[in-house]
Amino acid sequence: MSNPRLFKEEVKLRCIHCGYTMDADPWTFTCPRCGSLLEVEMPTNIKFSWDVARKRRFGVWRYRELLPIGDNIEPVTMHEGGTPLLRLRSVENGNAYLKFEGTNPTGSFKDRGMSFGVTIAKHLGVRGVIVASTGNTAASAAAYSARAGLECIVVLPKGKVAKGKLAQALLHGAHVTEIEGVFDQALERVFVEAVLRGHKDLYPLNSYNPWRLEGQKTLAFEIVDEIGVSPDVVIVPVGNAGNISAIWKGFKEMYTYGLVKRLPRMIGVQAEGAAPLVKTWQAKSSELIAVENPSTVASAIRIGKPVNWLKAMKAVEDSKGVFIAVSDKEILEAMRYLAINEGIGVEPASAASLAGYWKALEEGIVSRDELSVLIATGHALKDPDTIINRFS
Ligand code: F0G
Repeated sequence: MSNPRLFKEEVKLRCIHCGYTMDADPWTFTCPRCGSLLEVEMPTNIKFSWDVARKRRFGVWRYRELLPIGDNIEPVTMHEGGTPLLRLRSVENGNAYLKFEGTNPTGSFKDRGMSFGVTIAKHLGVRGVIVASTGNTAASAAAYSARAGLECIVVLPKGKVAKGKLAQALLHGAHVTEIEGVFDQALERVFVEAVLRGHKDLYPLNSYNPWRLEGQKTLAFEIVDEIGVSPDVVIVPVGNAGNISAIWKGFKEMYTYGLVKRLPRMIGVQAEGAAPLVKTWQAKSSELIAVENPSTVASAIRIGKPVNWLKAMKAVEDSKGVFIAVSDKEILEAMRYLAINEGIGVEPASAASLAGYWKALEEGIVSRDELSVLIATGHALKDPDTIINRFS
């Protein structure tokens, strides 16, 4: 039998800056014309029905028709996604729901994109995958490449990765390289080794890879699948800014296909000490205002130069949303609040979404009756040291 098609027919890559459009290619990560990031352009003529989809397990692969992957490609999966959407009963009588991504196989939303990205890597026949990470991407890449029989190389900022995440990467047999500096330097290193050198033996799965984000857009599909409409507001902790861009893309595509009648406002939340997008947003700057030495208790989003900054700015602008900064104190209060009052254990970065919701209510950006979905990106056990140091 001939090799199955990796991508659906008519799937394209489109530059987010100059609009240059090219054929789908798993190895092109930047625009050949202007060097900006690419996004996947889905065909306009897909056939999708909720009834057909709902016969499949709730999760990433339920929405196959809405993903660019070829029909006969076997996914590398551990039933990621299908995470609970929990009403926050105690939050100021608000109309808030929390999408608890901590229940994914490795404990974070990264599994959605990794299932998708490692499926591509396996089909390409590469030796392995490579990622830079603040921790969760590494844990997820390590587990999914183990499942696919691929090597995994992770580049981490030395001494700055929460223990649970490092332990997962080691457990699943990843080759760990630690570098001096922060995540941003680790990402530059991976880009040079995997993309600029052009060897094509290791598939890079950071979020400048537009294909990985296609798995993450399923967060939007699941929310609509469960509540039947787009929420008024979606609140997302932002680091490298891939996730907020992916979720917005998911909503926009459902709108294009007539699956929803309106779109939510996207609110991106960053920690005060690592808030390049908040600064860029407030200054209305057309260039990223980077943060040289990002610092926050929320190590997952300790990022000063988010690679997807332009995608995220567009998501927030197009959706009439906003970027909000919250302090470490507010993040830890929200984390403790969820644990004590709702029984939900999340890591600090994830609690930024509740801290951001509180701030948005206070500042009148969101009203109490608006249906708000807070993305809780990762599980509490990812970062046991913060819990023991701050709450015992
Ligand atoms: N929340 C958690 C728990 C994360 O691990 C991350 C990103 C984010 C939020 C932000 O998502 O980068 O798409 O804006 N973690 C990456 C990593 C950077 O390496 O695990 P983003």
